[in-house]
Amino acid sequence: MDDAFDPVASGARAAFFKAVVNGLSQLQKTLPCQYFYDEIGSNLFEQITTLDEYYPTRTETAILQQNAADIAQALGPDVLLVEYGAGASTKTRILLDSLNRIAGYVPIDVSEDFLLDTADGLRNEYPDLPVHPIVGDFMGRFGLPSEARGTPVGFFPGSTIGNLDDVEIGAFMRAARALLGADGQFLLGVDLRKSADILIPAYDDSRGVTAAFNLNLLTRINRELGADFNLDTFRHKAVWNDAASQIEMHLESLVDQSVTIGADQFKFTAGETIHTENSRKFDLESLTAQLSDAGWQLQHSWQDERRYFAVLLLSAQ
Ligand code: TRP
Repeated sequence: MDDAFDPVASGARAAFFKAVVNGLSQLQKTLPCQYFYDEIGSNLFEQITTLDEYYPTRTETAILQQNAADIAQALGPDVLLVEYGAGASTKTRILLDSLNRIAGYVPIDVSEDFLLDTADGLRNEYPDLPVHPIVGDFMGRFGLPSEARGTPVGFFPGSTIGNLDDVEIGAFMRAARALLGADGQFLLGVDLRKSADILIPAYDDSRGVTAAFNLNLLTRINRELGADFNLDTFRHKAVWNDAASQIEMHLESLVDQSVTIGADQFKFTAGETIHTENSRKFDLESLTAQLSDAGWQLQHSWQDERRYFAVLLLSAQ
């Protein structure tokens, strides 16, 4: 492994190792969800978004398409579009195509190669659009590029906000309010509460793509950290927690076993799980109150007919 000698790569590996050991040392074992998206994981997630059972991506895309003119009108001219965790640029393109005199696009993403490729692609397709990528974690602190012009509008699609807990949502939306300023607006995609009969299959599909996506985290830990997870003895599990209004993703050990990572050993009893991610499903009333506490006022919400998903327009207050 060449990159074992790369100080940056080994620093990243040390951070990954530390996060994994820390997570597996908890009473309820956890693993850090930001590590889902290696190359294989990113491809599997792309496949998830096309599954019959996984309604969020297609529902949100349809809402944006069907209301593009209204959204453009509500946002006004000279928008500086600031996208958090950019990547799925299909949704971005719907906005870029409909916005009037767009002033610029600021995609923010941790994955540098992916981000710079996307930025180059957009510069080719939209030669007049100033693109100012920012490499970094969207939960971190950063400023808008000094050359960026226009009225800032945050864009956070995919109900990725549903992977954050209440404290993180508050911190994130307050930081966005500070970054985007008193004239700032925000377009937020949120998945809504619905029947468990619809939610469970969306996170545990019949073809096993979501299972492969969740289990890939163990494969990655084996490969990058030299662990010895036996993939045949863990299974994907999606649970609906109604009180917390969230889908909880777990990896369940099928047998009593122990797993070795470096000098550390982790024991599992049969049926014990590793909690890998939450996907919260929102109620508009309580979310609106929470956003208001973080400095954002709800201006409008666009929803599909089944009310599965909502795109919210917020303005700084
Ligand atoms: N942000 C996506 C969601 O909450 C991520 C996701 C979809 C996911 N399926 C998953 C994460 C399965 C972990 C496991 O809908």
